[in-house]
Order: sequence, then C-alpha cells, then structure tokens
Amino acid sequence: MPSMATGDRRNFNSNNNINHPQFKPHGDHKSDFLSRRQKIEQQRRSLPIASVEKRLVEEVRKNDTLIIVGETGSGKTTQLPQYLYNGGFCHNGGIIGITQPRRVAAVTVAKRVAEECDAELGQKIGYSIRFEDMTSPSTKIKYMTDGLLLREALLDPKLSRYSVIVVDEAHERTVQTDVLLGLLKDVQKNRSQNSNEVRKLNPLKLIIMSASLDARGFSEYFGGAKAVHVMGRQFPVDILYTAQPETDCLDAALVTIFQIHLEEGPGDILVFLSGQEEIESIEGLVRENLKKLPEANQKLLIFPLFSSLPSEKQLKVFTPAPVGFRKVILATNIAETSVTIPGVKYVIDPGLVKVRSYSPDSGIESLIVVKTSKAQALQRSGRAGREGPGKCFRLYPESRFEGLDDSTVPEIKRCNLSNVILQLSALGVDDIIGFDFMEKPDRMAVIRSLELLYLLGALTDEKKLSDPIGQQMARLPLEPNDSKALILASQFDCLEEMLIVVSMLSVESIFYVPRDKLEESRTVIKSFSSPEGDHITLVNVYRASIEFLEKNKTENGNEKAEKNLRKWCKDNFINNRSLKHARDIYNQIRENVERMGLKMSSCGDDMLQLRRCLAASYFLNAALKQPDGTYRVLANGQIAEIHPTSVVRRSKPECVVFYNLVQTTRNYVRNVTRIDYLWLAELAPQCYALKDD
Ligand code: CDP
Ligand code: MG
Repeated sequence: MPSMATGDRRNFNSNNNINHPQFKPHGDHKSDFLSRRQKIEQQRRSLPIASVEKRLVEEVRKNDTLIIVGETGSGKTTQLPQYLYNGGFCHNGGIIGITQPRRVAAVTVAKRVAEECDAELGQKIGYSIRFEDMTSPSTKIKYMTDGLLLREALLDPKLSRYSVIVVDEAHERTVQTDVLLGLLKDVQKNRSQNSNEVRKLNPLKLIIMSASLDARGFSEYFGGAKAVHVMGRQFPVDILYTAQPETDCLDAALVTIFQIHLEEGPGDILVFLSGQEEIESIEGLVRENLKKLPEANQKLLIFPLFSSLPSEKQLKVFTPAPVGFRKVILATNIAETSVTIPGVKYVIDPGLVKVRSYSPDSGIESLIVVKTSKAQALQRSGRAGREGPGKCFRLYPESRFEGLDDSTVPEIKRCNLSNVILQLSALGVDDIIGFDFMEKPDRMAVIRSLELLYLLGALTDEKKLSDPIGQQMARLPLEPNDSKALILASQFDCLEEMLIVVSMLSVESIFYVPRDKLEESRTVIKSFSSPEGDHITLVNVYRASIEFLEKNKTENGNEKAEKNLRKWCKDNFINNRSLKHARDIYNQIRENVERMGLKMSSCGDDMLQLRRCLAASYFLNAALKQPDGTYRVLANGQIAEIHPTSVVRRSKPECVVFYNLVQTTRNYVRNVTRIDYLWLAELAPQCYALKDD
C-alpha cells in the first residue's frame, strides 16, 4: 500500500471553466466571545434565506402548493419550518411535517433546530424515523423520512394532524419521494373537497423544496404551482482533475487526503465515499498513515458520516475542529445536499455513488456503484465554496466529466417496485399503472413486481391485498421478502431466529476486517461460522453477543458490559456499530410482530427449520451449482459466484438461497445458505412445481 512515507502523490490539472458566482466573504470572526446562543442567532440571521422570511411566509399563505428552490446550505431545511411556525401555521392545532429521503438528515436537522429553538428534542421539535420515534403530543415541527410519512398515511389517510407538509430534497427523486408526491396531491384534493366530515380540516399546505435550480418539472406536476428561488451564497471553487484515470479509488482518495493535509492551508476536507464499508476501511487507513507522520502533522480528526451511524456520533461532525486541527469528513452521498457541514474548504470526489438497480428481466434488485451525474458532481464541488473560496479534487480526468449524464435517473425507474405496490395497495390504490406518478415507472418493472407479490401470496388474483398475508406484510416496515420470511417463520417455529437474520441483514456488514488482518480474522470468525451458511453464522454471532452482554451485565453492570462488548467485538472482528444497530432493529421488529399477533417461537439448535423457512421465503433467490463451480439463479438463469466473504465460498453446496446479489465487475451472491433442491418444489410450488430445471 503506497503511503505518505513513500511520498506517493497525485498530479491534478486545474480547470476553472466552472464559474461559480463570486461573492464577498462574510466573516464572523469577532464572534468568538459570544455565547453559543448568540452565535446561533447570528448564524441564523446570516443565512441567505433569512432575508426572505416574510416573503416566504406570505407566499405559503397565498398558495396551497409552493415550490422552493435554493442552493444547498441556504437554510431551507432548518429555517423554513421555524418561519412557518412563527407565522402561525400551527395555530389551528395542526403540525408541520418535513420529510427527508435520509434518516441521518432527519435526525441531525431536528437536533440542530431544537437547539436553535432552545427546546428539548422530542418536545416542540422532534423527529421520527423507522425504528426510532422522538416526538410527543407537544411536537409542532416534525422531521421524518418520506417512507415514514407514507406509513402514517396508512393509519390516517388524510394526514389530518398536519397543517403543512414540506417535502424536502425533492430533487433527489427517491422512490419514496415520488410515491409521496402522488399521494399528497390526492390528500390535498380530498381535504379541500370533503366538507361533510365531523371536523372540517383546513386545506393542506404543501411545500416542495429542491436544491436543483430547475423547478419546472415539479411546477407542472402540481398544476402550474408557483416556484420561488432563494439566492444562495457561493464562493469560487477551483476544480482539479487527476491527470490519469484511477484504478483504485480508495487509494487515490487516501493519497489526496494527505496531500491536502500536508500541502494546503487551513480548512476541512470532505470526502464522498460510496458506503459504510468503504468509509470504515479508509478511516482505518488514514489512522494508520497518520501515525507515521511527525507529531506536528498529526492534527487531523476523522469523522465518518453514514446512515447507520448512531445518532450521537452523527452530530459530532458539526462541531468545529479545535484551533490548529483539521477535520476530514468521510461521508456517503448524504453530504451532497442533505446536510451542510460548516468549515469545509476541500472536497474529494471520486465521482462514484451507490444506487439501487433493478432489471425487470432478471427480477433482481442490486446495489451497484455507478458514476455520478454532472449535477451531482457540481453539487459536491459546491460544498467546498460555502464559506470562502475552495478546491474540489475530482479523482478522474477532465475528459470523463464531459461524458457524464446531465442528471440522475429517478429511482422509480431503477428499483424493484414491489414495496411501493404493497404500500399503495394498502392505501387503496390498486391500479399502479394508472397512478399519477411524476414519472411513470416502466410497465415491465410494474408487472414483474406484481408477479413477485403474487408469488409471495401478498396479492389475490384481483390484485388486491390478500388477507391476512398481504395485510400483515404491508404493516411491517420491511421489504416484502423479509416480511414474508417473518410471517412464515412463525409457522416454521423459528421466528426468533428469523428476526435475528432479518435484523442482522438490515445493517451493512456485521464483520469488520481491516485489509491487513484478513488471515487472522478468518480463524477468529470461524468460531461463529456454520457449515450450513451465512444466515446461521449471523444467528451464532448475535446469540454469542447477547450471551456475552447478559453475563457481563450481571457481573459488571450495564455500562461496563457495553464497554466490554465493544472490546469483544473488536477482538472478534465484528463491527460494534452495526451489531448495536441490529439489536435495536431486532427489538423494534419484535415489537411489531408481537403486536400483529405472530407466535414467538425458537427452533433452538435445530437449524434445519430455519433453512427450510429461508427456502420457503427467499425461493426466488435460489441458485444451483454449475459444473464449473459458478451458480445459476433458478428464477432467471443469471450466473453468479459466491462472495469471498461467505462461509460457504469453499464448500460450494449444490443448492443455495442468497440474500443479495452484488454486481461489481462480476456477479456475486452474498449471505448464502445451503438448502435442499427438493425443498423448492415442496415449499414454493407456485414457482417451482412445474419447472423442469
Ligand atoms: O436546507 P439547506 O441546504 O438550504 O440548508 P440547511 O440544512 O438549513 O443549513 C443551514 C445552515 O445550518 C448551514 O450553514 C449548516 O452548516 C447549519 N447546520 C449546522 O450547523 N448544524 C446542523 N446540524 C445542521 C445545519
Ligand atoms: Mg436542506
């Protein structure tokens, strides 16, 4: 591995053809002696949006639907809800809801706004995301994920608690945002029409906020709704490209971090990475390399930022670095527009992003890393110029930028729609093709997803939700396959184990193996591994950790036990953050299934039950070994290999079910468990009985 010690560096070509409008720097250097409250007040007042507060409130009063576009960091997410609250939009008892595509954004922003309002989080200002509700009856401004609001609509189709709903980050066009927009359009119509209700509802105010400057699409979709622009504040950003294409992006990012740290003036560094795994491996590498530097150069603080990071850690990223120190923030796409981190002057953009991808032909959804669009590259470089002139290091040659797509394809065009269909069916929308989407999903993708739901037994022949399976599946906050697995598990007497499996698979990578400890880790991890496969291995890890924790709690008390568990995780190459997150999810889903009346049961050590249940639930992800040692996915003929991290990568069972298909340069199946081929015909006859594979 090249390191700073060997003097490795990158040559960047500078090109300034992207002209950001130039503004004079605004300084608040005199404010050091001010109290935190005064500082916050001053920050609020200096945000670009502050100068148009009155006008925005007036526009919302006049227009039932309003589109607000404004550059990232102008203050939309944190300020607008407060303006509306102060403007009297909660007077009739209604509350203000703001949706975010990402959990991290909902949490960090709510905390910030609570601080700005000097309120305790969960009181006037709260947030609600899947598996975590921080609201109370007194909450007036509620940040939440768009998926969560969709779930609320199941219980309260008119969203009667809300006087205003703000759909934030609409430019992201996540599938949940698109569904929500369609639904809100309907809710708005219904609320203004139905006057024969006992309690007449006020019209629903709808605000669509976007960081992309083109509001036309949204305006047209909402019948010519008015759009207002909030001027941003942007300093020039010097764009630099590598002279050569990079083969190893992680390495290039690492080298560039140190190049900036050692050669550039003060200012924090923001690095865009594709996921938790990448972030954690680069975090380790930065730490290692830092130790090799002279002490005076070691003043670099590392902050990871990704969705499943515990929320107390997420907030740390916003604290300014102490004098003389530099921060490096290793973030997923969340830092592109969802959250603005003060102090950033340097951006490193490898030009990649992880997205969902779905092919109706194969019927399988996977996460793939693709090139960003031009719009995304511009947003990312813009992050360097919020407080003064900055620099953006694009880890690709300039010629590649020209070839990028202008903007990102909406997610609804590239994901499995079965979850959307399930949710809409539960809301009484049976005709998906006819639903008023801003952009219609592909017909083939809809048909394939309907087929999947039908095979899972969630839909009847009339495309209605089946009772009870479909109804139950719609109530669980999980992907349809996972919901089905839990429902079946209660019949297979292994609900306890399936709950563990689903929770452990809901988080990114339970094992954490530094690159240089691969061999050592294999021996340690072996103590958990089951020859039958990865699902059972995950159950073993979970059980072992709970046993360790419980034993420690009785001996040493809760706090010490958690600390010991962290050490235990480290020794066993387990990602403590992921494990903790999985435990939270387990508790939440357990509550859900118990409330639904599913029978709790455990198969103990009889893992045959669990494997049979996996086969019965994930039958579409069954694959058969080929003579050359690769696997053929039975449902669509796709060829894949077992992922190198799987415990069955060597034993190569004849027939397996897998949880994910990962596409890099090769196709890999991940989280794999051995099953008996004959089980498929027995347990999933709707799919396999007639096939002669
Ligand atoms: O939504 P928009 O991108 O327009 O801006 P925002 O998220 O409301 O951010 C406005 C300001 O609040 C930025 O200067 C952020 O740096 C700051 N902020 C913060 O300091 N701490 C947070 N947890 C969130 C925002
Ligand atoms: Mg925002």
